[in-house]
Amino acid sequence: MPSSLRWLAALVLLAVAGAIASGAVLYVETRHSNQMRAEAITGGNSDAGSSIIARVGCGSCHIIPGITGATGRVGPSLQGIATRATIAGVLSNDPSQMRRWFKHPQSVLPGNGMPDQPITDREARDVAAYLYTLKH
Ligand code: HEC
Repeated sequence: MPSSLRWLAALVLLAVAGAIASGAVLYVETRHSNQMRAEAITGGNSDAGSSIIARVGCGSCHIIPGITGATGRVGPSLQGIATRATIAGVLSNDPSQMRRWFKHPQSVLPGNGMPDQPITDREARDVAAYLYTLKH
């Protein structure tokens, strides 16, 4: 290969590596800022929330991105729940209504398929913090 071509190849490689690296940084930053925002609006901890979701077993009824084994199909998928207008079609989707829904779905919508969840207020905040990271 002539040396000018070798230079060109090196430059192209460098540009590609740069693009990949900045894409990775952007991805990590977006994820991080999603998490910060979700925690700010809910006052919860999203990592704790994901453990609670796994322990309580929300995933036996819901598909929940990022939670191992959460592939249930009894209730709706929670993919993108952060960007929906309503919760279960009846509550406006905001952090306090979200907590209310986890704890008392049966008084909000009597007879629906989701039992009242045995979690504390603190845990409900954490669970909400996790769910509000789910934008897609
Ligand atoms: C036994 C099954 C079951 C379990 C366990 C369960 N859910 Fe549900 N969930 C449902 C069903 C069914 C609905 C749909 C209610 C409706 O709209 O009629 C629902 C609705 C929801 C919604 C509203 C979804 C939307 O599209 O508006 C959220 C959020 C939710 N559940 C979160 C949770 C969380 C968090 C847990 C665990 C703490 C949990 N659920 C546990 C069955 C379940």
